[in-house]
Amino acid sequence: MSLLELDAVDAYYGESHILRDVSLTVEEGEVCALLGRNGAGKTTTLRSISGARPPDVREGRISFKDEDVTAMDPEDISARGISLVPEERRVFPNLTVAENLHLAEVSENRSNTVGRSLGQVQVEHVGMTTEQVYEEFPRLRERKTQKAGTLSGGEQQMLAIARALKQNTDLLLLDEPYEGLAPQIIADVEDAIRRISDSGTTILLVEQNAVAAMDIADRCYVVDQGSIVFEGTAAALRDNDETRDRYLGV
Ligand SMILES: Nc1ncnc2c1ncn2[C@@H]1O[C@H](COP(=O)(O)OP(=O)(O)OP(=O)(O)O)[C@@H](O)[C@H]1O
Ligand SMILES: [Mg+2]
Repeated sequence: MSLLELDAVDAYYGESHILRDVSLTVEEGEVCALLGRNGAGKTTTLRSISGARPPDVREGRISFKDEDVTAMDPEDISARGISLVPEERRVFPNLTVAENLHLAEVSENRSNTVGRSLGQVQVEHVGMTTEQVYEEFPRLRERKTQKAGTLSGGEQQMLAIARALKQNTDLLLLDEPYEGLAPQIIADVEDAIRRISDSGTTILLVEQNAVAAMDIADRCYVVDQGSIVFEGTAAALRDNDETRDRYLGV
């Protein structure tokens, strides 16, 4: 059984048909990459998985831990262990690093309480403590009293990931974590992603930067115009000049 499975998903924004027959799986423990150009449908796929609306998923099925989560609300999906770090890295710029992390914890406690009181959600494990986060991201400890808006792009990305990990996370969805970062900083974020993966969290990484994503991914999918056009190991994609050239421009 795959941890996450999309089976023939069709998703729409209003009447625009964006995802067409998208099927993919993410296996427990792996780093899976979903690659594609601007506007290919990467963010739409992640939003569909996390329950964010729009888009509307009108056909197909999304299952997580063998449970159908297709029509579920985002809070219920999040309580089951899926955390999304969106493209825009939503940190609170006027709050310090420590305050940003604290707020993530407060919202996690609230959603667990709601889940328990409805009796629908089994909380399997809670997220990282602030101390664990600082151990994982020493740079955030050094900067804990600094306002998040004054962090570098790479540090903000790490803070956004750290906030997600304060929630109960079995599957971490990362939307273009390398966007706008210099190569040296990309290497730092890559190290952070590897450590998170090594500690047992499964990762679905969405990127335009195929070269960097292939570095850390076990398996890759390529999406183009809302359809999956390649599926295989990172090594197979590296060897597939035609696919890389045609759909990724690298
Ligand atoms: N809220 C929306 N309403 C209507 N169309 C949208 C909306 N959001 C995205 N789209 C369209 O859906 C398609 C897929 O967009 P999506 O954001 O999934 O692409 P992407 O692969 O994440 O691209 P990028 O790499 O630029 O982030 C695009 O054609 C886009 O214009
Ligand atoms: Mg996007």
